[in-house]
Amino acid sequence: MNIADSEVVASILSPYYKISDSQQEADLILLNTCSVRDNAEQRIRKRLRELASLKKKNKNLLIGLLGCMAERIKEQLLTEEKALDFIAGPDAYRTLPRLIEDASIGKVSFNVHLSDKETYDDIEPVRYDSNGVSAFIAIMRGCNNYCAYCVVPYTRGRERSRDPQTIIEEAQNLFHKGFREVTLLGQNVNSYLWKSAEHSMDFADLTEKIAQISPLLRVRYATSHPKDISDKLLLIMAKYPNVCHYIHLPVQSGSNAMLKKMNRVYTREYYLERIGKIKEILPDCAVSTDVIAGFCGETEQDHQDTLSLMKTVGYEYAFMFKYSVREGTAAANKYADDIPEELKIKRLEEIIALQQQLSLQSNKRDVGKTFTVLIEGISKRSDQQLFGRNSQNKVCVFPKKNHQIGDYVEVKITKCTAGTLIGEAIF
Ligand code: 5AD
Ligand code: SF4
Repeated sequence: MNIADSEVVASILSPYYKISDSQQEADLILLNTCSVRDNAEQRIRKRLRELASLKKKNKNLLIGLLGCMAERIKEQLLTEEKALDFIAGPDAYRTLPRLIEDASIGKVSFNVHLSDKETYDDIEPVRYDSNGVSAFIAIMRGCNNYCAYCVVPYTRGRERSRDPQTIIEEAQNLFHKGFREVTLLGQNVNSYLWKSAEHSMDFADLTEKIAQISPLLRVRYATSHPKDISDKLLLIMAKYPNVCHYIHLPVQSGSNAMLKKMNRVYTREYYLERIGKIKEILPDCAVSTDVIAGFCGETEQDHQDTLSLMKTVGYEYAFMFKYSVREGTAAANKYADDIPEELKIKRLEEIIALQQQLSLQSNKRDVGKTFTVLIEGISKRSDQQLFGRNSQNKVCVFPKKNHQIGDYVEVKITKCTAGTLIGEAIF
């Protein structure tokens, strides 16, 4: 989501600034920030201190901070971080030219106003760091779910969906420019809903419209909340081969007691029923997840329930975190952060070790299979190798022949690691 936001910002500022490859030469540096976990914020603090030295060399340099951290701790940042000239929250990017102008004449400037309407739907993002093959399209903003541990509803505001016509046009334009994959993005994409006087459109309808642009345009989406993953959407995914068979379905915990406390509004049984439905309708669908270790009051049994759920589902991939208290959230207000740091780390390590095994097992099951891979680029390890992804979002590496980036190619998998499928292109 932050990459998509940075592309919107690049578009808003394109009449005034050119993107530079070198921070030494830049007259403006923008840090787009995330507040989801404390370590993301700590990294930005460190970066701000490093950037302060550039200001001594370039007196015209302006440094601005964007995104969730701006929203969360504006006052504190402006007093504590001397290098900072201005601050803009996630709904304030249209006002950046004015904020920058004020900052350039020495006025402390900020805008952290949250809107319940802003979707930047008329702004064509500048894909400045793109491989020319895959692009993100933000289709909705904000979140109404209020999971007890999460700061997002406070920093990104209420849920709002973007006009579908502008999304379809953006996807069409990307396809005509040569892009072959779009990822529809939102904090909770499956609750996308557009209502006008004439019609209403939900996420499944929108996915179908994007899939119909061309069979050569792959469609992905993230992130899904388990409460919203509907059979209607799964059937659309089954109907259109270009809608990728991959779902990121954060579970957070395998324990009903923790899920309740987290305000996730589903149970372990409901979640497993949804996984069963996904596998029934899309037998080759890959599923990834997010897991939090050491949430407030988590017992050893709760932790074991998470491990057992992970094994039952057999996730292809997982993003795994230890719980970090976020000020202002329901968990921070109501529950003690009572799991000692060493225990959080131990549980997280067990979760990571298990996922490593599950990813390897899943990849081993793919050895001998042939997948359609969309080529994204040259492998970092060798310029004789290309890489791309299959429908299941697994990275596939294979020796270069006469293929171009952006081509589809059939790749037969011959071996694997936990993170990569390795194969040969077949004609
Ligand atoms: N502590 C740890 N992990 C968190 N996440 C969100 N808030 C927190 C927190 N306070 C994780 C969740 C979410 C992902 C984006 O970040 O797993 O799905
Ligand atoms: Fe945070 Fe929950 Fe919203 Fe995800 S669904 S952004 S975890 S509040």
